[in-house]
Amino acid sequence: MSSAIEVSQLRKAFGERTVLDGIDLEVPTGTIFSLLGPNGAGKTTTVNVLTTLIKADAGSVRIAGHDAATEAKAVRAAIGVTGQFAAVDDLLTGQENLQLMADLHRVGPGAGRLIGDLLERFDLAESAGKLTSTYSGGMRRKLDLAMTLVGDPRIIFLDEPTTGLDPRSRRTMWGIVRDLVAGGVTVFLTTQYLDEADQLADRIAVLDQGRLVAQGTPAELKRQIPGSHVRLRFADLSTLDAAARVLAGATRDDEALTLQVAGDGGTKSLRSLLDRLAEYSLDAEELSVHTPDLDDVFLALTGHDTEVSAK
Ligand SMILES: Nc1ncnc2c1ncn2[C@@H]1O[C@H](COP(=O)(O)OP(=O)(O)OP(=O)(O)O)[C@@H](O)[C@H]1O
Ligand SMILES: [Mg+2]
Repeated sequence: MSSAIEVSQLRKAFGERTVLDGIDLEVPTGTIFSLLGPNGAGKTTTVNVLTTLIKADAGSVRIAGHDAATEAKAVRAAIGVTGQFAAVDDLLTGQENLQLMADLHRVGPGAGRLIGDLLERFDLAESAGKLTSTYSGGMRRKLDLAMTLVGDPRIIFLDEPTTGLDPRSRRTMWGIVRDLVAGGVTVFLTTQYLDEADQLADRIAVLDQGRLVAQGTPAELKRQIPGSHVRLRFADLSTLDAAARVLAGATRDDEALTLQVAGDGGTKSLRSLLDRLAEYSLDAEELSVHTPDLDDVFLALTGHDTEVSAK
């Protein structure tokens, strides 16, 4: 399999501040790669260098086989970019924004049909005739991605495509990304959401303070971070004592009257846990299930929390 994106020893500083400190990554054609990181990690800077919007200080970047520094034009012809902030023209309607892109890409007579299809696919058909200044944030993001697709790019960069979207729109977006990849498109996606990277990506890289601190498949990364656990809070110390004897291996906190039990997050392990308590007629006052999030990943991989919580 050939590589759509090949980055080696990429460096970028803004003045004194080193933002990318030697990044290596490779994205095979037709796969989804997700760059995960908190605010200010350097995700947008990476996207900007890879899409030729800004120049690297050092290192090499090849996109679709072309050098981003010396063959920027060829790179631009191969890619589509949906930035972190929607690039729609507020003085135009959704339909007109798409038409503008179709004209730029010289789509020709098929444009009307293509635009109709995109509006349909992104749930925007009803609002197509309205000025985009009246669109919600989610509608703008969807229109923005639809505009990116007009040129039928084979490599697409999506910078936090679902930040600020409601759960349903997020799922719509995920579906669209999966369809694109099924059609052979390569997707480079940045996100602050571990679950999004987990859902979509073939490979994930975790960016922290300008370096990739981990890289691998979602399963490989999850093995490196603390798993899901269930926390049970009991009414008093004697119940806690009894429960701790029943649930061997649990971590106890006498002050909080809690037990923390490792689990895979599935209903089966939860049920057997509850069955075991019931067997001994033990009741918990409160039960919560904790699944690893971006904070856990960072804590585990870097020894520090995300500066700005992504929760
Ligand atoms: N043009 C610029 N001039 C100076 N500093 C910049 C510039 N662009 C980005 N930076 C700095 O580089 C660092 C990384 O920024 P970047 O936008 O790449 O982060 P990010 O991972 O995309 O964050 P977010 O999740 O908030 O979008 C930040 O400290 C930012 O202030
Ligand atoms: Mg950004």
